[in-house]
Amino acid sequence: MVITAKQEALVVSSWNEMKDDAPTFALNFFLRLFEIIPSAAKRFSFLRDSTLPLEKNPKLKAHAMSVFVMTCEAATQLRKTGRVNVGANTSVPHLASVHFKAGVADVHFEVLKFALLETIKEAVPYMWSEELKEAWSESYDHLVAAIKSEM
Ligand code: HEM
Repeated sequence: MVITAKQEALVVSSWNEMKDDAPTFALNFFLRLFEIIPSAAKRFSFLRDSTLPLEKNPKLKAHAMSVFVMTCEAATQLRKTGRVNVGANTSVPHLASVHFKAGVADVHFEVLKFALLETIKEAVPYMWSEELKEAWSESYDHLVAAIKSEM
């Protein structure tokens, strides 16, 4: 069992606390990634071509939400089946290909994980614990490992 029922419950219950403001939190962790690695923004075609401020870019927000939702959903998939299933609208090989072609590297995934965990810590400080951090980490690591395995 890669994720326990308790870990899944921690991810889902904290997600339920954050979900009303999830797009803002999701954008927040991408802005953090860009603070730490400014060149990461250049990976996104829609950021290279855009004159909008980052925080106003709807496509950036949509990508950030995909990451947040897919990480949360991975917890349930991992608990139920022991593996990540990225859903009906996409596939692991497709995601691997898109990220590979865009030049997304290990360091981007690693820093994004840090930014995601920091954002959750600040979003739900009253729920934060080592166990909650571990539960989101496991979920994210498996999702990324699945994508990277096909890159
Ligand atoms: C595209 C998910 C991490 C950069 C996408 C898409 C999804 C996605 C669903 C849309 C694919 C499509 O066009 O059909 C994820 C997930 C991640 C992750 C689940 C981590 C768990 C990252 C990171 C970066 C990144 C760390 C680094 C900068 C990109 C880029 C595209 C993309 C550049 C193509 C966007 C474009 O230019 O059109 N990602 N992503 N992603 N992602 Fe990610």
